[in-house]
Amino acid sequence: MLKTRNCGELRLTDAGRTVTLAGWLARRRDHGGLIFIDLRDRSGLVQVTADPTFADSYAAAERARSEYVLQVTGRVRPRPEGMVNPNLESGEIEVLAESIVLLNASRTPPIPLDDDGYKTDEITRLKYRYLDLRRERLQRNVILRHRTIKFMRDYLDRRGFLEIETPMLIKSTPEGARDYVVPSRLQHGKFYALPQSPQQLKQLLMVAGFEKYFQIARCMRDEDLRGDRQPEFTQLDLEMSFAGRDDILEVVEGLVTELVPAVVPHKRLFSPFPVMSYAEAMARYGTDKPDLRFGMEIVDVSAAVKGSDLGLVADALASGGSVKCIVAPGCASWSRRELDNLVELARAAGAKNLGTLGWTAGGLKGSLARQLRPEEAQEIARLCGAGEGDLACVVADKAAAACRALGALRLELRDRLRLAPPDLLAFGWVVDFPMFEWDEAEGRWNFMHHPFTSPKAEHLDLLESDPGKVMSEAYDLVCNGYELSSGSIRIHRRDVQERIFKCLGYGEEEVRERFGHMLDAFEYGAPPHGGMAPGVDRLVMLLADEPNIREVIAFPKTASAADVMFDAPSELEPRHLRELHIRVAE
Ligand code: AMO
Repeated sequence: MLKTRNCGELRLTDAGRTVTLAGWLARRRDHGGLIFIDLRDRSGLVQVTADPTFADSYAAAERARSEYVLQVTGRVRPRPEGMVNPNLESGEIEVLAESIVLLNASRTPPIPLDDDGYKTDEITRLKYRYLDLRRERLQRNVILRHRTIKFMRDYLDRRGFLEIETPMLIKSTPEGARDYVVPSRLQHGKFYALPQSPQQLKQLLMVAGFEKYFQIARCMRDEDLRGDRQPEFTQLDLEMSFAGRDDILEVVEGLVTELVPAVVPHKRLFSPFPVMSYAEAMARYGTDKPDLRFGMEIVDVSAAVKGSDLGLVADALASGGSVKCIVAPGCASWSRRELDNLVELARAAGAKNLGTLGWTAGGLKGSLARQLRPEEAQEIARLCGAGEGDLACVVADKAAAACRALGALRLELRDRLRLAPPDLLAFGWVVDFPMFEWDEAEGRWNFMHHPFTSPKAEHLDLLESDPGKVMSEAYDLVCNGYELSSGSIRIHRRDVQERIFKCLGYGEEEVRERFGHMLDAFEYGAPPHGGMAPGVDRLVMLLADEPNIREVIAFPKTASAADVMFDAPSELEPRHLRELHIRVAE
């Protein structure tokens, strides 16, 4: 090795030792007579002092610039009184350089590397990702990701799971997104699909008798990207035979509960995780991925205004809708502009309108203050526990629409009022999802999880007669407003699987062509099985307190699914296209 020690690990106890270090020049200060260099390697920084007594080393320090690669040999010594840097772990010492070798030079980096990078243009950061990754924050994230994955592997190995790789070149596995496809050279005009997840393969491994499987699995999905979505991402994919829902939840809850203190000891979590049904989550939080770090739950106040002659309220109640409300603490005296802004937000989230009611020392405020009778306002306050200083945000609409809009408002208020404790990871289980949702655009039922999810046994009879009422054996793990993981107990019988495909409107020919292998496999003693797949990127994003999964992926894609460093996707040479029997249309 070109070094005997790491920069960031040197301490006062090393004083007097001669060490050889190698790393990058993070900062250089020339004090005329003494040159100070912050030398950085993966372990952190240390101060190197170049003194003219060692003439060659001093000359090298004079020539060195930002991001030059240096090898430094010298003696560790305590920093003089008053020069200790309490912000640096090695801040009590410095290394007096006896020799400095310039291992390589560097052009001036196109982006600053000594800050957290949030303010730098992201495209430039991604173009020079190999430099961007040098910043301390990203080094920390990549290391945290490594520790998280290592913990997962060890935990699951202890629990008897086997890590088994599955192929990347397969056939479409529907998870609700478009497939990325790969043309076959050997088979004219044919294409592989890259897996959206190893769903079918892990089920086939259960048929094969492995009982407990996991994989740190790469998944590819051609879908519209968001802060928590990448076209290629990683799942901790797992599956178990002879397991019920609670067995699977226990494995994943145990994993997360042990993982958090091991890798991010400054974070808190509640244990056991709360469990709620999909219907409950929608009613209380207006979303199936609630942020449970704070209250502000949605309350039904229909009873308080049932006799109201207020148009929107009366219309909503008459047509079977409801009046729902959340309470923003301490916001009663918000200005007209701030309230108008909330109304706009609620409308953007699908509500017809939003009424506000604030309890101030000077009486009622807000758009509903004069429209409601005093006893109605009082009853609203009682039902939702509002007191002086509080602001009720009220939506009258179909129950689902009202909850969805208030759910969006709840998140906005969370951010404005800083209601979510930053050190809290609030995990929770959402269970009992409907099996299907109605696809307005296509005019047919679509699966809510994926087509291999088992309906609840007691709802099998409803499959053909009333698909909207069929509940599934699916479950999600949520955390801080994100869907972290989803899974289900699977169908393991051919007849049931065929009925589900039929409900989804897949023709017999299509089913045989796309899923014949699964249906066949179910005829050879497929065991009851189920599993789930936590998203590794989303989990590490939450552990690392990052706002975007790109910050925890070494080489992520841009929002338009491009790799700006490689310049991918890119065109193929005509020769290559010919070999693949592909012609690109103008
Ligand atoms: P699902 O499609 O819900 O389920 O995905 C499971 C988890 O994977 C993560 N995830 C993503 N992360 C980043 N970018 C994306 N584009 C992306 N899409 C999904 C999320 C999500 O909760 N085969 C089933 C799992 C199972 O049933 O066992 C599946 O893939 O964290």
